[in-house]
Order: sequence, then C-alpha cells, then structure tokens
Amino acid sequence: MSAESSPNMFLQNNFAPWGTEGAARDLPVVGRIPRELNGTYYRNGPNPAFPPLGRYHWFDGDGMIHAVTLDDGRASYRNRYVLSRGLREEQEAGRALYRGLLEFQATEIPGFKNTGNTNIVWHAGKLLALVEAALPTRMMAGPLDTVGEYDFDGRLAGPMTAHPKLDPETGEMLFFGYSPFPPYLTYHVAAADGALVRSEVIDVAWPSMMHDFAITKDHVIFILCPLVFSFERLAERGGAFSWEPERGTRLGIMPRRGGNADVRWFDTDPSYVFHPMNAYEDGDAIVLDVARYGRLDFMSAAAVEEPGYRDANAARLHRWRIDLARGGVASTPLDDIVTEFPRVDERRLGRRHRFGYMAAREPELNDGAQPLWTAVRKYDLERGGVTERRFGAGNGVGEPLFVPRTASAGEDDGWVLVLVYDAARDTSDFWILDAQDVAGEPVARVTLPHRVPYGFHGNWVAA
Ligand SMILES: [Fe+2]
Repeated sequence: MSAESSPNMFLQNNFAPWGTEGAARDLPVVGRIPRELNGTYYRNGPNPAFPPLGRYHWFDGDGMIHAVTLDDGRASYRNRYVLSRGLREEQEAGRALYRGLLEFQATEIPGFKNTGNTNIVWHAGKLLALVEAALPTRMMAGPLDTVGEYDFDGRLAGPMTAHPKLDPETGEMLFFGYSPFPPYLTYHVAAADGALVRSEVIDVAWPSMMHDFAITKDHVIFILCPLVFSFERLAERGGAFSWEPERGTRLGIMPRRGGNADVRWFDTDPSYVFHPMNAYEDGDAIVLDVARYGRLDFMSAAAVEEPGYRDANAARLHRWRIDLARGGVASTPLDDIVTEFPRVDERRLGRRHRFGYMAAREPELNDGAQPLWTAVRKYDLERGGVTERRFGAGNGVGEPLFVPRTASAGEDDGWVLVLVYDAARDTSDFWILDAQDVAGEPVARVTLPHRVPYGFHGNWVAA
C-alpha cells in the first residue's frame, strides 16, 4: 500500500482539523478549579483550514490557538486561527495554495506559508505564535487576533525556533534559527525588555532540522542530529530531510558569555531529539535530559510503511552527561516507556531539576488504533521513581504543563495542566492535576465546548 492510497493519520480522528472559531464562558467543571490559579493556558497546534494539496504532514497545518482562561474558580475558552498572510490568501481563493513539507519544492511559487503552528510564548509583553521555519507571529492576548509577523523591530532577518528559552533569572529570551541554506544556524538573545540584542552565526558541520535546544545558567547547548537537509532526489525520497545515522549526533556547548569561536562539539550515538527536558551544570559536567529517538525517518514514505516503524521511531527519556574537563558524553537511558513532550518547572529551566513531566504511551495500548499518548508520567530524577496517571483507551493526552502554586512554591508544589481528548464523547477536557499526586484524585476537569485537535505546545500566562 502506498502512502498516497492509505488514509492520512494526521487528518483522521482527533488529528482532524476543527473548523470553527469561537468562545465559551462558565464551562462545566468536575471538582474545583483552585481560586489561586488565575491566568490563561495557551496551546498551539496544526489545523489545516483547507483540504491539503498533495501529501499532508502533521507539521503543515495552519496554527490554531486554544486558550483556557481560569479566573477565580471559573473557566472560559476561546480558539482562533493564526491568521497568516498565506492563510488569508487561501481564504480569498477558497482553497489551499501552499504545499506542505512532504511536497516541498525549493523552486516553487508561492513557496512557504508561515503557519505559526507549533508553540506560543509570552515575552516582554508580547504573545508570539511560533513555527521554526519563519518569523514569529504576534497575537493579541485577549481576543487572539493576529497582529502579524514580528521581526523584533527589524532586527531579526531569519527564522526563529518554536522553542525559545526564557531564563528564569535574567528574563532574557534565548533562541536560534536554522536554515537549509547558509548560514545554517544563528543564535539570538532578546533582553528582558524584548529588544533583540545579539545575533551570532554558529558554524555547524551540516544543515540539520534543529527543532529545539537547551540552556544552562552559563551555557547554550545545540543538538546537531543526523537529520540532514538534502535537496537531491527530493521527489523520490519524499522530503527535504534525510536520515544519515553514520554522521552521529553532536552536542555543541557554547558559553553564554562566549560565541561561535568558543563552541565545543561532543559526539554521541546517532539519535534525534525534538525536545530536551532540561539541562544544568554539575561541576565540570553538563547534564542534559532529552526525549531521545534512536532513529527518525519520518519523511520517507517507505520507512513509515515498515512494520515496527512506530516503535523504532519513538522517543524515550535519556540522560547525556557531557564532561567538559575530560571530554566525552556518558549516555544513560532513564526509562523504557515511550514518551514525548517533556517539561519541567519553568523556574528550574537551565538549573538542576528534580522533577519532569511527559506524555506517555501505555505499552498495552500500543497499537495503531489507539492515541499515541494516553498517560502523563512524572519523573523524580533525584530519588528515582515514576508516577503515572493513565487516562486509558481512547483518551489522547497532550503536553503536560507544570504551573507552580505561588512564585516561591517548591519545585512540584502546584498543578499539571493537560488537554485530553475523549474519543467516546468526541470532546476534549482540560485537566488540572495535583503535581504532587498526579495519579490521585484530579483537582478539576473542565469540559470544553468541543474537541481540541492534537497539537504541539502550550504555556501558562499568569493573570
Ligand atoms: Fe516542539
């Protein structure tokens, strides 16, 4: 069976787009929303407004923001498209005009659409929808109107990763952009007031799809994986990325006070990382916890059709310990359960973390008929041990997000927020779990007015 003739999983079930923008107040709640939890949870994800041209990949859809606002124990909801220039053109035409990743042709007009579909972050008073291949898109926090592409007052010329890092002490936003064409990698720093104060080209051995990175208090860590941009045999291979494990994976460590000339590269086994959980300095070493794929061949139609693809191209929590004094990377699997979307308490970003949260696949629900993720897993990385909340068959879980009870609360003193799709009811709930007891009685379950398609990343903006 060819990829063209099989139903596209990214347009089926709860991957299918939701077509209506709307808002609802005073949502039904089971349990009690904590009165001290006031703010908005923003979640971004792909939501193609028109039937796609050619083969569709999950990464292609127009961004849609789903916002759950909690206010003194009450919950409201709003969803809006990231109304990109490309989407406006398509609305005028009444059909899709832009092709996706799997149909990408470097020479094609009209070219690339900035869908802004991957993440949404708040920095220096601006709400930015992000996709890694383009500029940020600024949104209005309340009504979720799209303001337009944001280039830091003309200072950002290239794309911005969807995974900037907000330093919890300095308030800076550290990020990078990558490109299939030179310069392949550029590092940027926006100051706490939002001004882009630094842009520096970083030399890399090959152009790679670099989805995310990590920071510590004093270092930046670039993760160069053997998923290589290649424009040869594009149509035959099925995409612009080629999996070339013989290159290995390289970790580039740059002092935050240094620059390109100070980057040291450390080799480790071939692997792909979409998402690090966190990193920190430990004496002469850097500890980097990641969701590690042993292989990532997602663009090859032939590979996707292979038996066992789903398990081979899957991530598990893994620790790299990079020895800055003697060199070398110690590589330690931390779990054998398939997981993704790692998060820590954002106040620990770049600092030693004890706890981490991930979406997890229940092994007994690991068949093609079930959602990819049906559980939330909480790791205690200091004392060992895992606690897990299983939502069970037919319940698709998104990225879990920790929110502290107060600014000074302990590392896991707060809540875990997560969107869960319930196939039986064909709708989504917004769950609030006690972070110190994720498996126990939920704090609250807010029923949303309709399902929220599976998406990528979200963040909390306190009121
Ligand atoms: Fe991501």
